[in-house]
Amino acid sequence: MDTARHELGADVGRTAAVDRWVAGPMTALNRDILAGRTPAGAFPAAVARVLAPELDVPERYDEGDARRLLVLLGLVGAGLGRHFQESGPAHRDEPERAFALGLGPGPIPFLEYFTRLAEHSGTGHPPRDAYASLTRWNLPPTEVRWAGAPLTGLPSVFDDGLLRTYTGAVDEVRFFELIKLSESIERAVNLALAPIAGGGVDPFGADALHRLGVATLLLEGMRRLNSGFAKLPPAEGLTPGHFMDVFRQFAVHWRPGDLPPSGAFDPESLERDLLLGTADDDYRKHLLRLGPGLLEHERQRLALVAQWPSLPDLLLARCGVPDGLGEASPERLRALLGRFPVLAALHLVLQAHARMSGVHLMLSKKYLFNPQRERDHTGHGDPGVVSNRRGTTGMDETALERLTRARQRHALAALRGLPTVDLEVLAGVAALRADAPEDLSAVAAFSGPAASSRRRTP
Ligand code: HEM
Repeated sequence: MDTARHELGADVGRTAAVDRWVAGPMTALNRDILAGRTPAGAFPAAVARVLAPELDVPERYDEGDARRLLVLLGLVGAGLGRHFQESGPAHRDEPERAFALGLGPGPIPFLEYFTRLAEHSGTGHPPRDAYASLTRWNLPPTEVRWAGAPLTGLPSVFDDGLLRTYTGAVDEVRFFELIKLSESIERAVNLALAPIAGGGVDPFGADALHRLGVATLLLEGMRRLNSGFAKLPPAEGLTPGHFMDVFRQFAVHWRPGDLPPSGAFDPESLERDLLLGTADDDYRKHLLRLGPGLLEHERQRLALVAQWPSLPDLLLARCGVPDGLGEASPERLRALLGRFPVLAALHLVLQAHARMSGVHLMLSKKYLFNPQRERDHTGHGDPGVVSNRRGTTGMDETALERLTRARQRHALAALRGLPTVDLEVLAGVAALRADAPEDLSAVAAFSGPAASSRRRTP
């Protein structure tokens, strides 16, 4: 038995040896390099020595193995890229040089190997690590439940109930869990809303009212989940320092100008903005720019939803007020709602959407923009290979503030003058609330093996 097989264990499946290396020795190596205990060159050396011989030609893997390897080699590629770029100031201009090693028979150059694997997976996965594989595929499956029944869930490509991280720190575990649970709730929200916009559900029927009500409460649950995350004690959650100096620094370019993983690629959030009318022309351009970082089915889904009228446009037109509510008096608004309670229900969804956006903005400030401002004031600057002055796809604090404002200034904002409690009764949300779980943030949970030890984030 050669050294590589000995380090990995001999009786392993097609991807289990790679998985084991990524979950154990790789995270230790990342920690040692970041702590200055081990030179950066040890990372590519270990990949070439231990991992490369374990890999077969990409086209010989089945679909499941190809997806698992995209997760695992995505994490490996992030380490290669980061350590290379951190080891020389000029390296950021030539990120591809980080991947000057081969994998599998041949060996096949790393970037070519990853690109072939992505193509072979049949998913349209980008030729580098990406949001979908890093979070959705990587983490255990989830389930969103409502009134005792499953609404939806997000699958995993692994069946061991575990997740893979860069350094094994609890900060990364919690952050990834928050992302996947949030995306799961968003999926349930979109499944409730999309059939109304797509024409499958009568906007004036009881079903539409119910769907809008459930969407409101699900968004409230997502907001509570995210605001609860920010309140976790540092030892159990994410520290700004870890987010900025450890986690984000793995989101390097693999090739100049490519798109590193980011929450901005969350397809459910993009779909919700289309459904709820946040997407103006600039937003649609932003969506096109994000295209290469998405999976094929995500691009197709968003292209479809982008053709539908948004729910505010659809409902205002169908209620005979295509130009919006403008400065209508409270009496006129009440009369309109009396005829069309669905407008009250949509208003509550839009409010919940805007409030969720406000909490997300708070998180981005707490974990990134405020501490970076402090660093700028104290002369520490922004020395990392990934800038902490903006997100990885280039969105800065102003861009996130603008998006939050756009969500707050929604098409039914004139209804804000009426008491929420009245709107909730009219829309049937008050009745739904009575049947809803006491802790709305718990509507999404991990399922499958080890689920009981990882029910939810906070
Ligand atoms: C500690 C928690 C979080 C922090 C610090 C954070 C930070 C950020 C930052 C810095 C950006 C700009 C990204 C870029 O330029 O590429 C961003 C964008 C975004 N993030 Fe997060 N994020 C967090 C949690 C989440 C969660 C849980 C989701 C949902 C799954 C999410 C979804 C998004 C989306 C959709 C965008 C695009 C901007 C928008 O639509 O408002 N984020 N986030």
